[in-house]
Amino acid sequence: MLEALDRLYEEARNALEAVADSEGLSAWYSRYLGRKGAVTQMVRRVGELPKEERPAFGRRANEVKAALEAAFQARSRAIKEAEIAREVEAGAIDVTLPGRPLPRGRLHPSTRILREIVAILTRMGFQVYRSRDVETDEYNFQLLNMPPHHPARDMWDTFYTTEPGVLLRTHTSPGQIHAMREYAPHPIRVILPGMCYRYEQITARSEIQFNQVEGLAVGRRITMTDLKGTLVEFARQLFGEDRPYRFRCSHFPFTEPSVEMDIQCILCGGEGCPVCKHTGWLEIMGAGMVHPVVLRNGGYDPNVYSGFAFGMGPERIAMLKYGINDIRYFWGNDLRFLEQF
Ligand code: DAH
Repeated sequence: MLEALDRLYEEARNALEAVADSEGLSAWYSRYLGRKGAVTQMVRRVGELPKEERPAFGRRANEVKAALEAAFQARSRAIKEAEIAREVEAGAIDVTLPGRPLPRGRLHPSTRILREIVAILTRMGFQVYRSRDVETDEYNFQLLNMPPHHPARDMWDTFYTTEPGVLLRTHTSPGQIHAMREYAPHPIRVILPGMCYRYEQITARSEIQFNQVEGLAVGRRITMTDLKGTLVEFARQLFGEDRPYRFRCSHFPFTEPSVEMDIQCILCGGEGCPVCKHTGWLEIMGAGMVHPVVLRNGGYDPNVYSGFAFGMGPERIAMLKYGINDIRYFWGNDLRFLEQF
């Protein structure tokens, strides 16, 4: 039986040499040293031996168990280390590789053009005046010389709220009244950028929300010449020195006289194309001399004061400037569009 023990010892050591991973290790352990393992079983059979052989067998059995136990510990350590080394190798980081580029945010085209417009006009001495998006019928229409049922109101399709007389501003012009009432009778030169809302069918050319930039100058002896000089200089800075422009007669209830300003079509250079509807011209804003009724509503005596005003749509201008053919891109949140700016 002593020989059988030694053979088993030999076999177990060889088997341990062949073990390559943690799973093999635990299988080996239960096969030889576990409660039902071969070595454990053999040690139990000590009782079958004649009395005089038992001490020698017992000693040898203890040696074998201790030796296998130690060999198992050593092998375990070696396998663990090899496994860690393999993991490190597999997940290795090559520190010489270039980093992954981080996507970088950029300004929305509306913000960009708004800032450009505001920069030009503030350099000319206009101050930014913030006015509210939720307005009253009184400010959006009545004080701008459009009493209830005035047919000119049809120019603006309006979102009304459930609160009588409260609406979303259809243009930035009501801000003129707020600014005048705050500063009268002092001279003012303000621009009012902000979002406007209209109850429109959304198409390539019309949206239910868009920005406007309103301008207003009020003082003594302000004339149409001041209006033209300001707008011509503005157009030069925004569209380039040599871009031809023209003023056309128009009508707005809050200005008299009223004009619209055109620049020569950027896309066709005046030849005529679908964008300019074959006229060779693009309308960029409405403007005029502030109507006496509006001046009075703002707190200025129209016999003493005069003023000019203008209003433009930055998205429209961005469309002309960058050749964007569909206004829905502005609020469509399509990165393929936004990333071009
Ligand atoms: N409020 C006008 C619109 O939304 C634009 C406009 C025209 C503003 C003439 C003005 C102006 O201040 O004088 O169509």
